[in-house]
Order: sequence, then C-alpha cells, then structure tokens
Amino acid sequence: MAADMERLKDPQGEERRARRMKCLGYVAAFAVFQTAIILIFALVVMKVDAPKFRVRSATFDDFQVSTLSTNASFKVRMNADLAIKNKNFGRYKYENSTMEFFYRDIKVGEAVIPSGKAKFRSTKKFTVPVDLSSAKVPGNVLGDELLKHAWIPLTSRSTLKGKVRLMLIFNKKKSTNMNCTMNLNTSSKQLQDLICQ
Ligand SMILES: *[C@@H]1O[C@H](CO)[C@@H](O)[C@H](O)[C@H]1NC(C)=O
Ligand SMILES: *[C@@H]1O[C@H](CO)[C@@H](O)[C@H](O)[C@H]1NC(C)=O
Ligand SMILES: *[C@@H]1O[C@H](CO)[C@@H](O)[C@H](O)[C@H]1NC(C)=O
Ligand SMILES: *[C@@H]1O[C@H](CO)[C@@H](O)[C@H](O)[C@H]1NC(C)=O
Repeated sequence: MAADMERLKDPQGEERRARRMKCLGYVAAFAVFQTAIILIFALVVMKVDAPKFRVRSATFDDFQVSTLSTNASFKVRMNADLAIKNKNFGRYKYENSTMEFFYRDIKVGEAVIPSGKAKFRSTKKFTVPVDLSSAKVPGNVLGDELLKHAWIPLTSRSTLKGKVRLMLIFNKKKSTNMNCTMNLNTSSKQLQDLICQ
C-alpha cells in the first residue's frame, strides 16, 4: 500500500522539483539583473567626477604695453571667459573663490569668482574682469622677455570648493583646480596658445 502510494506520488514530486528549479532559475536571473542595475547605477549615476574649470577665451578693454628693453611693462584689462563643465548626474554648487594670474610665478592679477551653480550635466559659462599689471615684475626681466618674442607667458590658477548633489538628496564634496597656461600676444593684443590641464 505504502509502496503504491510512493509510486503514485513520484511523478508529482518530479513535477514539483522541476517547478522549484524553474522558480530558482527566475530568482537567480532576477538577482543577476538587479545586481547589474545596481552596479550600473553605482558606476554611472552615483560616480562623482571633479568638474573641469578653465579659461575659454578672453577679450580686452584696455591693452597697454611698453616694450622698452630696460623697463618694459604692461597694464591690461582682461575679460576672461570661464567655463565650469559638470558631467555629473546632479548640479554642482560652488563657493566664491579667487583666480590668480602669474607671470613666471610673480602674481600679476586676481579676479573674484562669485559663488554659483553648474547644472546637471552641463557647462556653466561666465565672464569675469581681471586687471593684469606688471607692477611687481622687474622692468628689465620683462624687457628681455619681449626682446625674445612678442608675447608674455601667463598662467592662471584657481580652486573651487563645492558639492555635487546626487538624486536630489545626497551631497558629495568635490573641489576642482584650474591650471591654465596662455600667451598674451603683444602685437595682436590677443590671448593665444591657451591650454588648461
Ligand atoms: C619704469 O617704467 C615705469 C612706468 O612704466 C616707471 O614708473 C618707472 O619709474 C620706470 N623705471 C625706471 C628705472 O625707469
Ligand atoms: C566669499 O564671500 C565671503 C562673504 O562675502 C567673504 O567673506 C569671503 O572672503 C569670500 N571668499 C573668497 C575666497 O573670496
Ligand atoms: C599645472 O600644469 C603644469 C603643466 O602645464 C604642471 O607642470 C604643474 O604642476 C601644474 N600645477 C598644478 C598646481 O597642478
Ligand atoms: C601674434 O600676433 C601677430 C599678429 O596677429 C602674429 O603675426 C604673430 O604670429 C602672433 N605671435 C605668435 C607667437 O603667434
């Protein structure tokens, strides 16, 4: 009697086992799918890159250069066009800061960077005025420079401190540095050879 029962139950048991296996298969596939989604989310959406801060170009309101070899000088009013490129999936809000210009490690100008926001995956562009002056540069050093070529090499540096907002709730601190080199062409009175790291 018991043996008959076993024989009768057996096909059902096999069916159940097959169903259980199929179900486990679905659970495993779902777990893999979910893990992939979480990984993609973690790698793409939650990944925070430092925004890129750079000088795009510049125009000039005033451009005075004296090329006297023993006592050269410059006095320039520059309107620097800047860009903050934010590739993150959330806006970048940054604090006010300063941007400094150097001629061979001698500071020749400074500008204020007002606080602001760069939107989700976009580039914020704005212009700041900077007065560049060779007041602290020895006139003969600049004179030698301008004897060699009709351009003045400059570097600009700045650091922005801010936060990237993720999923409208999390804030992740991120700072970014500007490090650009450029040449002021004293004959065309233009900015050229602009390179930002
Ligand atoms: C060099 O030129 C500046 C003005 O550009 C002037 O103030 C300064 O006295 C000059 N220096 C010498 C040593 O001639
Ligand atoms: C930012 O602004 C505050 C208040 O206006 C000021 O005290 C601070 O010096 C500024 N910081 C920079 C780096 O300019
Ligand atoms: C700026 O870039 C120059 C290369 O152009 C590099 O030698 C220098 O170390 C950089 N400075 C900073 C502060 O990153
Ligand atoms: C500076 O500008 C002048 C006039 O546009 C140009 O002829 C010259 O090649 C420029 N200098 C450099 C170093 O590119």
